[in-house]
Amino acid sequence: MSETSSNVSGATPASPEGSGWGVTLKLSADTVDDATPIFATAHVEGAVEWTDLEFRYRWSLDVEEDGPLHGSSGVYDDQSQWGFIPPQTGSFWLCVSVRHKHTGVVMEASRWVTVQEDESFRRPPLPSADAPSVVEVKDVSMIFNIASEQFNSLKEYFLALARHELKFKEFRALDHIDFEVKRGEAFGLVGTNGSGKSTMLKIIAGVLDASEGSCKVTGTIAPLIELGAGFDMDLTAKENIYLNGALLGYRKEFIDAHFQDIVEFAELQNFMDMPLKNYSSGMVARIAFSIATITEPDILIVDETLSVGDFLFQKKCERRIKELVQSDGVTVLLVSHSIDLVERICDRVCWIEKGKMRMVGPTDEVCDAYKRLAG
Ligand SMILES: Nc1ncnc2c1ncn2[C@@H]1O[C@H](COP(=O)(O)OP(=O)(O)O)[C@@H](O)[C@H]1O
Ligand SMILES: [Mg+2]
Repeated sequence: MSETSSNVSGATPASPEGSGWGVTLKLSADTVDDATPIFATAHVEGAVEWTDLEFRYRWSLDVEEDGPLHGSSGVYDDQSQWGFIPPQTGSFWLCVSVRHKHTGVVMEASRWVTVQEDESFRRPPLPSADAPSVVEVKDVSMIFNIASEQFNSLKEYFLALARHELKFKEFRALDHIDFEVKRGEAFGLVGTNGSGKSTMLKIIAGVLDASEGSCKVTGTIAPLIELGAGFDMDLTAKENIYLNGALLGYRKEFIDAHFQDIVEFAELQNFMDMPLKNYSSGMVARIAFSIATITEPDILIVDETLSVGDFLFQKKCERRIKELVQSDGVTVLLVSHSIDLVERICDRVCWIEKGKMRMVGPTDEVCDAYKRLAG
C-alpha cells in the first residue's frame, strides 16, 4: 500500500523548467481483482491546449520465468483515459507519456497497481442428485464414414469414386458416452486432441445427430463451437451481428437495443463496416463471444474459442463466463485446451479419451487423473 501511495507521482518533466504544464496519473483503484479493468486517467495542469497533446499509456510487469511483460495503448490524440485489463496477478507499473505535438516536450507520470487473485468467484457447488438436468447424454456414439485408403491427389480420389472403388470404413469418434449436466452447473470436457470433445458439443448443440443413443437438451443454447459458424465472411461485421443474432434466436429490435454493447464488448468499434473476411480469427472470435453472451442463455457452450482471441480478451471472456456461472440458472459447458481454465471455473468434468469415456466427477479428481495420465 505504501508503495502505491508514494508513487502518486506528479510531473516528471523531460524538459525540466518552464514548459508551463505537468501531468499526474490517477487510477480507478490501487488494488483490483484479477481480470478487472483498471482505468488510468491523465490529469494535465497548466497553460496548454488539450488538443495539442497526444497520450500514450504503457504498462509493465516483471515475471520471473519468461522475462518481463509489457504492453501499451498506442498513441491517442486527445484521450486522457485508458482502460487496461491486467493479464495476470502481480504488481503492475502503469505510465502515461503526454507529448506536446508542437514543442515535442514529453511529460510522464506513473503509478503502481496491485492485481490480486479474484477471490470472489467460487466454482458452483456440486449439484444435488435431484437437481433438474438440462443436458442428458445417454449412451451416445458417433460413427463417421471415412475413406479407407489414402489418395495422393483429388484426381485419384474422384477416379476411385467414379469407378465405385472407393471403400469406406467406419470410424467411431464417440463410443457409448453417458453423462448429465444439471441446471446451473459449469461442466467441463477434457481429453487430448482428436478425442471427440468437439463432436460431443456439436451433438449437444444439435449441429450433428448422434449415430446411436440420445441427447436431450432443455432450454436455449448459445453455442460457441466453431469459429465462423453462423457468419458470412462476405458481409460486414455489422451485418454479421444481425445474422448471427438471428441464428441465436434474437429479434431485430433486440439486437438494435444491444448493438452498442456487443460492439463495445468486442472492442471493434472502428471495424463495423469492414467485411468479415478481412478480420483476423481473433477478431471473429471476439464478435462471436460478444453476441453469444450479451444475454443470459440457459446454456452457454464454449469450445476452445477463447484460445483464438488475444490474451487480454481471453481474460475478459473468462470474467464474462464467471458472471454467467454466478448468475442463477445459467449452465456452462466448457471445452478448453487450458486445463487451468476448466479447473478455475467448473464444478464437474467429463474426460473423454479417443472417443471413450474415462471419468466423470468433481473437477479436482478428474483433472488430477487427467494430468497424471495425459501430461
Ligand atoms: N465430419 C467428420 N468426418 C470424419 N471424421 C471426423 C469428423 N469430425 C470429426 N472427426 C474425427 O473425429 C475425431 C474427434 O474429433 P473432435 O471431436 O474434433 O476431437 P477434439 O475436439 O477432442 O479434438 C477426430 O479423429 C476427427 O478427425
Ligand atoms: Mg475440438
